Amino acid sequence: MRILVTAGPTREPIDPVRYITNRSSGRMGYALAGAAAHEGHHVILVSGPTSLDVPPGVDFIPVETAQEMYDTVRSLCDRTDIAILCAAVADYRPIAVADQKIKKTGDKLTLELEKTPDILGSMRSDFGYTGILVGFAAETQNIEQYAHDKLIRKQCDLIVANDVSRKDIGFDSSQNEVLLITADGAEPLPKDTKEHIAMEIISRASGIIPH
Ligand code: PMT
Repeated sequence: MRILVTAGPTREPIDPVRYITNRSSGRMGYALAGAAAHEGHHVILVSGPTSLDVPPGVDFIPVETAQEMYDTVRSLCDRTDIAILCAAVADYRPIAVADQKIKKTGDKLTLELEKTPDILGSMRSDFGYTGILVGFAAETQNIEQYAHDKLIRKQCDLIVANDVSRKDIGFDSSQNEVLLITADGAEPLPKDTKEHIAMEIISRASGIIPH
């Protein structure tokens, strides 16, 4: 199957030397791309900036901003059987990007932000994507409830929810512990390496029958 994976953080520029980003290392997404390629799927990895090596056998498209990731995913959608959106896309970006480095003129600096495009939320409604859709949910409380809301609102087949308030899993760690949320309910996957969790997610996603 043709599998599209998004990974890593995005960077939203403030001026030529500064940006807004988050703590995603890309490990979870790269593990998913690697596991899918290992199973013989054709994999395209669309990734924000990370320090990781691209897994063997994976086609790689580097991007920087949420808008670039949105445009890239939209252009690839109609050639995708399974889309797994694991990237930690910035939810807001500066409205105005300064052409020159912002000088330290005052004691306070206010940045005005606007929402970035919601890639996962656009897949069905705007891109007309009909394949299997797997989203992630990075939550710090009410994990199952919030993830279930995302499953419905974004018309996903599967949501992989993780608790990003924990230091031992989630952002920038080698392990994860997730809840798999489908229309049938929630199933916990015990704490394990991101590589093992990724293998399980690929196996579940490739077993879903598209509607
Ligand atoms: O990269 P690691 O260090 O290995 O960490 C892994 C991880 C914690 C980043 C990963 O497991 C994870 O939870 N990824 C999703 C992070 C996230 O942004 O979650 P969210 O609940 O804010 O977003 C929900 C979903 O919408 C995600 O599938 C996200 O990719 C997507 N999204 C979010 C915002 C946006 N503008 N467009 C999107 O498509």
